[in-house]
Amino acid sequence: MINFKIGINIVRAQKSHINQMAELIAKNLGTCNLKGKSSDIISQNIAELVNTFHFYHVAVDKNGLVVGLCGIGDVKTDNDYGLNIGKHRDVLYVVVDENFQRQGIGTTLLKNCIQNIDDCPVLYEAWGEIKNGDVNSYKMLEKCSFRLLKDLGTTFYKEHGYCPYCINKDKNCQSCFCKIYIHE
Ligand SMILES: CC(C)(COP(=O)(O)OP(=O)(O)OC[C@H]1O[C@@H](n2cnc3c(N)ncnc32)[C@H](O)[C@@H]1OP(=O)(O)O)[C@@H](O)C(=O)NCCC(=O)NCCS
Repeated sequence: MINFKIGINIVRAQKSHINQMAELIAKNLGTCNLKGKSSDIISQNIAELVNTFHFYHVAVDKNGLVVGLCGIGDVKTDNDYGLNIGKHRDVLYVVVDENFQRQGIGTTLLKNCIQNIDDCPVLYEAWGEIKNGDVNSYKMLEKCSFRLLKDLGTTFYKEHGYCPYCINKDKNCQSCFCKIYIHE
């Protein structure tokens, strides 16, 4: 458990956090993380988190409200990026509530999640909005000792069936950046 000056603690995610986690992901990523068209974003996020919440840590405020989350998945060998890197783990979502961004929470969450992983490299699929000019998390990744492994440009998401259109994040977005980072 880590105490921030701003009264935030980092704890393991529990079932009771799932709904708040799903809403936080929907608010910050819109439909960008979802394959295919769907208006029921929260339900899709909840369905995914019900099976994966045990991988996550969450940042909670003094009232127990989830303001950030980060997870790292199980060891796997396959990936969608054309990389032949053998065993690795994926960073799942890293999201911090807009009102709490730029206070070190994302960096602390990610550092906290990777500190106990020593069995294989960890990949991070960094997503970025065109309006930001690069992946949103590049500074956080630098601070957590990730390095760029492969730049998949602006066509990856469309080619893989993601992001057919944005529902509630940025309706004008036509494509997003995708860069794969690695922590070894
Ligand atoms: C990316 C994200 C998780 C970072 O969380 P955070 O708690 O704000 O991160 P930190 O405070 O630890 O900041 C790390 C660095 O990232 C930069 N940063 C934070 N938010 C940023 C944003 N929205 N856009 C660009 N850079 C940002 C900060 O400037 C900081 O560097 P600095 O302190 O040297 O200036 C958060 O901005 C977020 O949830 N964004 C929306 C969802 C998203 O893009 N997630 C990543 C998907 S791959």
